Amino acid sequence: MANTIKKIGVLTSGGDAPGMSTAVRAVALAALKQGIEVVAIYEGYKGLIYNNIKPLKNTDVLNFINAGGTTLLSDRCDEFKTEEGMAKAIATCKEENIDAIIAIGGDGTFRGATDLSHRGIPTIGIPATIDNDITSTDYALGFDTAMNTNLMLGDRLRDTCWSHARCNVIEIMGRGAGYLALQSGIALGATIVAIPECDFDEEAAIAKLKAARANGQRSFIIAVAEGFPEKDGVPYGEYLTKRINTETKAEGAWIDTKFCRPAHMVRGGAPTLRDRLMAAQFAEKAVELILAGKSDCVVCARNGEIVETDISYALILDRMYKGKLKDGDLDKFSEEQVEAMKAFCAMRKAELDKMYALANLLA
Ligand code: F6P
Repeated sequence: MANTIKKIGVLTSGGDAPGMSTAVRAVALAALKQGIEVVAIYEGYKGLIYNNIKPLKNTDVLNFINAGGTTLLSDRCDEFKTEEGMAKAIATCKEENIDAIIAIGGDGTFRGATDLSHRGIPTIGIPATIDNDITSTDYALGFDTAMNTNLMLGDRLRDTCWSHARCNVIEIMGRGAGYLALQSGIALGATIVAIPECDFDEEAAIAKLKAARANGQRSFIIAVAEGFPEKDGVPYGEYLTKRINTETKAEGAWIDTKFCRPAHMVRGGAPTLRDRLMAAQFAEKAVELILAGKSDCVVCARNGEIVETDISYALILDRMYKGKLKDGDLDKFSEEQVEAMKAFCAMRKAELDKMYALANLLA
């Protein structure tokens, strides 16, 4: 397969993440330097189905370096999951002479990438999601920028909380994963951090809050992951806010508590230094893999190195970590591979537990 690649397509798909455009720029520049034509596929996989494709030259991408959102636009395309949608996408690749694709996004994007690869279009994934919840990689583009936005917002809440002796609960995005809430919580000096992956003792947390107030603590920040299970029919952060207000008021020691949901605000903004550097490194590796004739893999950050991982391995590892394995998922792996996957998941959970313990130590 090596040397047969003349034209590659690049797309961004799923929830946008700061650093996606930086990665597109780096993919384009690295490929163009090797004499490979590059085309932008707009709106993710939908652009492949409806042929929304334009050539990219050096001069088109230069300002992508600090662009927020994704310049190539995005979509969560259900049609691509159908046989008909996939057939149209493959037909577009043939019509446009696209020999290979680099797909930037999260696990949904990688499922699409593996489908394309299995149908003869070599595809390489670059991880990008503010949730940083792709098990096979230590890092996904957008995480650092989103955390820094949380810090900026949370620090402002801290200012006003201090002035008015208040508490502020911040609900932090991350879908089912608590990485964003946990790391932002530590960096914001949160008194309480609640994430779905770790045991949380609500009574102990409220007791700690009251004791801290009794001990003179004027203001508080509480970080709750959006994926933490809801209670009393409302998102957990809203429930906790209500409980603290009602209970402390009734006890005559009111901790005036507000609720804040930055939500999509943390998805925008110019990528940070870390996201720009990671985007450059991921993109360089992805182009190298494509030109080496590789397919169906995702570039991953691991212990400071950029490595490649087979997409189906990465997807199943992810399902194993999240407790979502389907029947037959492990059938094609050897016993040793399954043991290695289990050990990897245990290592990821241990890392998370360690960080959660740190959040509680410093709370
Ligand atoms: O996966 C990124 C993410 O921002 C999650 O943190 C969040 O739960 C979800 O996407 C929101 O999705 P949408 O943009 O479709 O509302």
